[in-house]
Amino acid sequence: MQSDVIENIAKRKSQTGFDVYKLRDEFPILNQKVHGNPVVYLDNAATNQKPLSVINSISDYYKTINSNVHRGVHSLSEKATEAYEAAREKVREFVNADSIKEIIFTSGTTEGVNLVAYSFGESILNEGDEVIVSQMEHHSNLVPWQILCEKKNAVLKYIPVNDAGELIMNEFEKMINDKVKMISVVYVSNSLGTINPVKEIIEIAHKHNIPVMLDAAQAAPHLKIDVKYSDCDFLAFSGHKVFGPTGIGILYAKEKFLEKMLPYKSGGEMIKSVTYNETVFNDLPYKFEAGTPNIEGAIGLGAAIDFIKRIGYENISAQENELLDYANEKLGEAGGIRFIGTAKNKASVVSFLIEGVHPYDAGTILDQMGIAVRTGFHCTQPLIEQRYKLTGTIRASFSIYNTKEEIDRLAEGILKVKKMLV
Ligand code: ALA
Repeated sequence: MQSDVIENIAKRKSQTGFDVYKLRDEFPILNQKVHGNPVVYLDNAATNQKPLSVINSISDYYKTINSNVHRGVHSLSEKATEAYEAAREKVREFVNADSIKEIIFTSGTTEGVNLVAYSFGESILNEGDEVIVSQMEHHSNLVPWQILCEKKNAVLKYIPVNDAGELIMNEFEKMINDKVKMISVVYVSNSLGTINPVKEIIEIAHKHNIPVMLDAAQAAPHLKIDVKYSDCDFLAFSGHKVFGPTGIGILYAKEKFLEKMLPYKSGGEMIKSVTYNETVFNDLPYKFEAGTPNIEGAIGLGAAIDFIKRIGYENISAQENELLDYANEKLGEAGGIRFIGTAKNKASVVSFLIEGVHPYDAGTILDQMGIAVRTGFHCTQPLIEQRYKLTGTIRASFSIYNTKEEIDRLAEGILKVKKMLV
């Protein structure tokens, strides 16, 4: 056999034995050109692409059972309700929660954090109390706590981050005292890729009876979420980062907290009965789902969970780790690259700078070559600007369908950027 043929066969199978090229057939969007070049989609941390099974689940819903849920005695409404609740059960199993009462459909991670900050944080926080987040929070797990602390005259404290992009855990332990009423931390950093030691954080917090929320937006695409194993009290993630649609997300919360919390929004669906004088709230989880929900979103998320189960987190991790190692090697070879975020424990996110080049200019040239990366603060402005003293980074984030050839294209793109601008 010719050596280039042998090489191509070897390329088709990654070292993990996973056939990425076969999988790519399930993602029609990847089979297109941008500016005349085959698209290389490396902005998966912003949102990842959707397999046909997810796309079809949404169009099938509209073609066959579209109807409002929990309201009609008619057959279509019953079928829509069944599909919507089946998706909730899939999520329960996906995160290993005890009960569907603990699974609330939201619009995304941002709404999940806001719900906890307003419905829970409001009720437990008094003047002089403290909330802990980290220096690497996404704005969605920072701004709601900042607003709440300001309103309550409470103090927001930040777990410091070392130069490699890891939380400084002994500093965290020193921050714990009787005034700390809540801790909310990011599980996996969207801009650095760091996988944080959340189980350890939760163990320390629970010794002091402090509840912990996890922002799992960037964890769910890469790692098996297990709320029983981590023992987190609250956890939020978004559908669109786990191969599902936009506009749907999940808040998991322990039932003991949800029982006591007041609804964060109100209206139809979240009520059991209403008179002109008073309202009796609905049971969990519906107490927190006012209004007609995102039915197609929930069904699409259910299909996305089926997709992840079919692929398996072992394959996802193996493939993504291989891509991460390869990207570090190839980008390193390009020269003049400064990596931002070199934690030992990392997901498949590479943030970097090209010496002498503004990230925005690099992103624009790469786009002309069909390569999609994200540039800027990545919704972590304090981390990038105040902690690292940078104006932004270039971020390439990989998913299960990315290939080594695409990383080669990125490396070629970087060389072109350097040739043009340095
Ligand atoms: N939070 C998303 C990102 O990191 C939008 O790109």
